[in-house]
Amino acid sequence: AAGRGGTGLLAGIRVLITAGPTREPIDPVRYISNRSSGKMGYAVAAAALAEGAEVVLVSGPTALPPPQVHEFVTVESAAEMYAAVMARAESCGIYIGTAAVADYTPVAAAPQKIKKTLAETQIALTRTPDILGTVAGLARRPFTVGFAAETHDLENYARQKLAGKALDMVAANQVGQGLGFDAEDNALFVCWPGGDTRLPFAPKRRLAEQLVRLIAERYRATGS
Ligand code: CTP
Ligand code: CA
Repeated sequence: AAGRGGTGLLAGIRVLITAGPTREPIDPVRYISNRSSGKMGYAVAAAALAEGAEVVLVSGPTALPPPQVHEFVTVESAAEMYAAVMARAESCGIYIGTAAVADYTPVAAAPQKIKKTLAETQIALTRTPDILGTVAGLARRPFTVGFAAETHDLENYARQKLAGKALDMVAANQVGQGLGFDAEDNALFVCWPGGDTRLPFAPKRRLAEQLVRLIAERYRATGS
């Protein structure tokens, strides 16, 4: 890692990273979201920066201090994250989707606060746009890395995600039972077409450095 002096494994490469959760509005005071502290994504951004990359970080709401990246874009909903990513993806060499994007969003946000007049109620949900899948399908696509958070069958789901969305790499972590989310430490199973590796339990900052090195290696190997 050589900092900003034009050296480092990712010197001169524009890297687009998403981080944190998204918030899908139910009404003006309520939303649906995912558990995500943003720590892993921000650590990946710092690690890419340390390797000389030009880093663009698109972030959902987190409690973290804004990092020193080249461009920092804050968004709330999956639709906003989609727009921010699509406006930038084709100008980037690498895309790393660490964000915990909501898979569903309310069909329509109520314009006014919903009152508790009913004993039971339902919220109609519709699928959000698949940001990762859309990036991977671009004609001029960046080297595309997806994340997977799974409670079970980690390696199988990771390989399925890799193949299903034609990704260049998937980094998967086990969540639940105190793992993942707000924790400082984590472990990753990383796979790509033709290989995989395990990054053992370590602080997220350390994991992010190892992951970024792997990404740089694969990025060069595929001649992206
Ligand atoms: N992702 C995305 N857009 C969405 C949903 C997810 O870009 N609307 C991205 C995340 O940023 C992450 C990856 O998809 O990089 C994996 O998310 P995950 O929830 O594990 O996969 P899904 O494809 O949403 O499938 P499922 O939730 O059924 O496991
Ligand atoms: Ca999902």
